[in-house]
Amino acid sequence: MRNAKLDAWVEEAAALCKPDRIHWCDGSTAEHDEMIRLMVHAGTAVPLDDAKRPGSVLVRSHPADVARVEDRTFICSARKEDAGPTNNWAEPAEMKATLRGLFDGAMAGRTMYVIPYSMGPVGSPIANIGVEITDSPYVVANMHLMTRVGTRVLEVLGPDGEFVRGLHSVGMPLGPNEPDVPWPHNIEHKYITHFPETREIMSFGSGYGGNALLGKKCHALRIASVQARDEGWLAEHMLILKLTNPEGKRYYITGAFPSACGKTNLAMLEPTLPGWRVETVGEDIAWMKLGADGRLRAINPEAGFFGVAPGTSMGSNPNAMRTLNADAIYTNCAITPEGDVWWEGMTGEAPEGMTDWLRRPHNGSARKAAHPNARFTVAARQCPVIADEWEDPEGVPIDAILFGGRRSSTIPLVTEAFDWAHGTFLGATAGSETTAAAVGAVGQLRRDPMAMLPFCGYNMGDYWAHWLSFEGRTDAAKLPKVFFVNWFRKGADGKFLWPGFGDNSRVLKWVTERIEGTAAAVDSPIGRLPAPDALDLSGLALPGSAMGELLAVDVDGWLDEVGLIRDHFARFGDKLPAAMADAVDQLEARLRAAKAGAA
Ligand code: OXD
Ligand code: MN
Repeated sequence: MRNAKLDAWVEEAAALCKPDRIHWCDGSTAEHDEMIRLMVHAGTAVPLDDAKRPGSVLVRSHPADVARVEDRTFICSARKEDAGPTNNWAEPAEMKATLRGLFDGAMAGRTMYVIPYSMGPVGSPIANIGVEITDSPYVVANMHLMTRVGTRVLEVLGPDGEFVRGLHSVGMPLGPNEPDVPWPHNIEHKYITHFPETREIMSFGSGYGGNALLGKKCHALRIASVQARDEGWLAEHMLILKLTNPEGKRYYITGAFPSACGKTNLAMLEPTLPGWRVETVGEDIAWMKLGADGRLRAINPEAGFFGVAPGTSMGSNPNAMRTLNADAIYTNCAITPEGDVWWEGMTGEAPEGMTDWLRRPHNGSARKAAHPNARFTVAARQCPVIADEWEDPEGVPIDAILFGGRRSSTIPLVTEAFDWAHGTFLGATAGSETTAAAVGAVGQLRRDPMAMLPFCGYNMGDYWAHWLSFEGRTDAAKLPKVFFVNWFRKGADGKFLWPGFGDNSRVLKWVTERIEGTAAAVDSPIGRLPAPDALDLSGLALPGSAMGELLAVDVDGWLDEVGLIRDHFARFGDKLPAAMADAVDQLEARLRAAKAGAA
């Protein structure tokens, strides 16, 4: 059964890009093996040792194509104000004209792959279909792991179903006698563009991660956030975890954290609290819709993990390490003489005789062996703690939402929002110190509302209004409770105050007890904080002053923060919802009252 719109679009793309041949992907193992074989022949991939990492390869990209390029990412909505101040905007017709010039003949000498994929379990009422056209076998192999690809998707699409169109090229056509390079990309032109009204994506010049695997950030967040606004649901940059307490009661929690702030670790953590269990539903993206029972239900639209490798170890994330035992694609890691991968933080000592991600000998070098944004791609079903219900087409009912960021000062370990609107405010004002997941300086504080700064496909002011609207869409008591967490607060000595990782289960426990109404909290100007002794610290040896510092409300620090929040909000002009402006006024008033009371 052919889909006429799909056939016409593929024909049009082929006429423009002029590939040597067209391949329709069926998502089979044979097809995946063929992509790997092609990459090995082209020098893009090296097979890893079959005993240590069966079925796995290491890919090394060009050093100028290693992360998402936010400054080359555009939201091409018809009206500039609909992209808002946090997105680059370009007029759609002008951008398409530029891109048509670049895509013209861009696939010469290459194969054009047509990848029909489903974001979410095929046929789920929350899932959505996309088709990516690409000239990169690396993209095909990664999409096989990250999404559900193939003929089944075309069957669900049917003869006249709608789909998100994603056209991607590495932007490096080959002349008749021109050899390929290991990592083709376009050094001069990179464009990651989105046309939200027509549900189209056009990505040119990069072969890397979120720039090129269009199901992920481009479709499941930037385009889907617009679909979600139009249709009354939420497409969020959130992990989904299932937490079971010692009595066997289950909770489902989502968490929004900026890139490379430990989302994958939290999604599959091993609690240090006896009897508690965390299982994974998703580790990067959540689509949440109100169910017939009035509760928000979430699915993970992805089928795999595209995780940050450095820092991942048997200590920090044993379940991720176990997921990586076989059939993974590693990108920009180092390789050992035995044919295993390595990255900073995997083990205490760097193995002897490695080759770094730039293919240089690493022995004794002070340089990083793996790129800080080195990644692994692996099927989620391989995760030993994947929850049974991770592919439930109806999604899981969400009890709590966590927002977070990487903040070395001011922000307490955990704060509970007073209500949904205050929770929206906590999310809207989230800030974080930047990481290597995007090109640019690392360690600078930037506001990253709901961890969606690089991923919201429309005006953030309208996005907050959409969040606020959920109070009117269902019984407010059925909405998840909202919390803000910060694992990264540092003491005066510059060291982290909180051990993090498995000990974050102590915070999760308090969250569930707040849901049940059994744990104590104290109201503070910034929200509700755990009462003294309300957090379970059993078996944890923290220095005496640490908890006080972790939960301290630094009133002067917060008054400075209020100034920063006002600057942040000012960018949105009349798009800023009144409830957000009121929330900052109320925060300031509570802080001033606390300061006056203390004086
Ligand atoms: C990611 C990111 O790749 O957020 O998940 O950058
Ligand atoms: Mn992410």
